[in-house]
Amino acid sequence: KWYKARKFYATMLVVFLFAMTIHTLRDLPYEMPVYGQGKEATVVDVEAMQFGWNMSQTEFKVGEPIEFDVTSKDVNHGFGIYNEDNQMLAQTQAMPGYTNKVYITFDKPGTYEVLCLEYCGLGHHLMTGKIVVK
Ligand code: CUA
Repeated sequence: KWYKARKFYATMLVVFLFAMTIHTLRDLPYEMPVYGQGKEATVVDVEAMQFGWNMSQTEFKVGEPIEFDVTSKDVNHGFGIYNEDNQMLAQTQAMPGYTNKVYITFDKPGTYEVLCLEYCGLGHHLMTGKIVVK
């Protein structure tokens, strides 16, 4: 029947418009983390290698927004930051030829640990680093 077809097309149109809306919303530039009081993030270069971490800075202040720019000198590694309770706070991949960014603001003073999260060879478990927050 013609009116059934019309109802079908109307439904399809609504579904289409809904899908387009979702699609558009999804493609909007997503918001970067908001840094406290408009402060610029401290940019830290992190280079992973078998078997260690080269970090341009390892001491920070509580409340200081930090951007880790993470890459690798050789193979794929995983960059993970852990607090003193062994909880992971942030992580990203360390890949040769790429720079992955990870943002963090430490809200407690202490010693944080950097661990490699991807098996990268015999010394994988030796890939630890230290971050001190005062
Ligand atoms: Cu580097 Cu595992």
